[in-house]
Amino acid sequence: MQMSDIAAGEYAKIARLQETCGIQTWTPAELKIFLSQNDNFIVVAKKGKSVIGFAQTQWTPDAAELLSIAVDPSNRGQGVGQKLMRYVLERVSSISTEVFLQTAESNRSAQKLFERCGFQKCGQRPRYYGAETAYEYVFRAKR
Ligand SMILES: CC(C)(COP(=O)(O)OP(=O)(O)OC[C@H]1O[C@@H](n2cnc3c(N)ncnc32)[C@H](O)[C@@H]1OP(=O)(O)O)[C@@H](O)C(=O)NCCC(=O)NCCS
Repeated sequence: MQMSDIAAGEYAKIARLQETCGIQTWTPAELKIFLSQNDNFIVVAKKGKSVIGFAQTQWTPDAAELLSIAVDPSNRGQGVGQKLMRYVLERVSSISTEVFLQTAESNRSAQKLFERCGFQKCGQRPRYYGAETAYEYVFRAKR
């Protein structure tokens, strides 16, 4: 498995993967606009030419935020999510000492991944995803 920054030819693959994984889907055009700003990166995990996972991060002067992370269902449970997360944390460490994210209360597999990677629950937003509560997590780098 290799990890790299997303290439322009991979926007449509990410859009399909988002759809497959049931998370917010951005069109290739929206991904292009997002990436044209200097406050983010999208990293992809690949097996050969197949994109099997990705993570999307953005930051402000105060903190970084993991906007989304997903692994193709047939490649889950093999550590791809953890490798993506650790890559993001390493990469973001020169930008911010804090990384925030939020996930649905029912998304136990994502919560386990975040906790394994050092995130701690720091709040919740009731009914943030329709009827469902969002759990907020923060990762604070050790100084
Ligand atoms: C959350 C998500 C990214 C995790 O991806 P993943 O690649 O399956 O994550 P990992 O493989 O690192 O960890 C998953 C499990 O596999 C286990 N695992 C990791 N490496 C392993 C290996 N080599 N062999 C066997 N099991 C392994 C982990 O221990 C973990 O088990 P646990 O959760 O029961 O404790 C994935 O489930 C996903 O894409 N979900 C849909 C999108 C989503 O909800 N994203 C988060 C929204 S905020």
